[in-house]
Amino acid sequence: MTVNSHRVRSTRKTQIFNHAGCFIEGWYWAIPSSKLKAGQVKPVTLLGRELAIYRGTDGKVVALDAYCPHMGAHLAEGKVEGCRIRCFFHNWQFDEQGKCIDTPSLGKPVLVSVRTWPTAEQYGMVWVWTGETPQQPVPFVPELQDEECNIAFGSRFVKNCHPNVLLINAIDAHHFNTVHNLPLQIVFEKRELNQNAITFSNTTRGGEESFLIKLLRPFYKNAVTYSMCYWYGSTGTVTLGPDFLHFHIMFALRLIEDGKTEGQTIMITRKRSGLGGWIFNRIVLWLTQQVGNYFAKGDSQVFQTIKFDLKTPTPADRSILQFIEHVEGQKPLLWGTWESAKD
Ligand code: FES
Ligand SMILES: [Fe+2]
Repeated sequence: MTVNSHRVRSTRKTQIFNHAGCFIEGWYWAIPSSKLKAGQVKPVTLLGRELAIYRGTDGKVVALDAYCPHMGAHLAEGKVEGCRIRCFFHNWQFDEQGKCIDTPSLGKPVLVSVRTWPTAEQYGMVWVWTGETPQQPVPFVPELQDEECNIAFGSRFVKNCHPNVLLINAIDAHHFNTVHNLPLQIVFEKRELNQNAITFSNTTRGGEESFLIKLLRPFYKNAVTYSMCYWYGSTGTVTLGPDFLHFHIMFALRLIEDGKTEGQTIMITRKRSGLGGWIFNRIVLWLTQQVGNYFAKGDSQVFQTIKFDLKTPTPADRSILQFIEHVEGQKPLLWGTWESAKD
């Protein structure tokens, strides 16, 4: 394989990838579902935009811009009434579309609205779509599409680099050997699921020289399972493990100020029935966490100091270049305003 010098040059001048001022229009994690009970409202700052997110008594989650169009009170100071929210300050009330439907001092509602944003719940999280109408699904593990799942939250963390850069770790083929001591050469094959999602799956089975690989081989019919699925350049799901039991870890990331990352890891497994299934899943989720910890421990420090600049790519960096290209092909929004970065 030869390194394409033209592409290398172009990926060094990215418009979207690893830029502190923009992110991809998409679904982003906002708040754990369990932290938002029916009738509660919470303030959430998401990608630089301040929101009030509430759960109506019907269980539905509504996300709206934080500040009241009357005088700017934060709506998370207000009160949920049925499926609506009432501002604390002068009691204007807004429905789930953000429309003002009660202005007590005037007797009839003022014709104003607060902007609302599409929401969804998946893997124990409330997700917000950062545009008008969702174009793609909430991030999911490809193997578990449409499956009911059990989850466990791992760590919540802040890293001193952009989410795009942090996610690259999972497809940095060579570092599995240099950092994580994996006795297997990883070679990825990419596949685009849609405009906003791409998977990289390992294609190798390993040679005869490693005792560990020989030991593991009976558990893999084909290649050693390791695949990463990226959504909106910001959330990734890793799938790995023997054929009889796959582990799934989601890294739900979002861009915060100064080009840093705030993230939450989520362990995921297919729901299994009965008490036995529940106990089995607790063990699987615990094991998944140990696998995640092992990989996180090896290189968490490097992401506090890295100044990412792929000046000299090698063939082993091919997937990274493909990921950069994939990110560059998506719709960028400005951090803070969520307006199009292209206008
Ligand atoms: S500031 Fe919200 S009703 Fe006055
Ligand atoms: Fe790593």
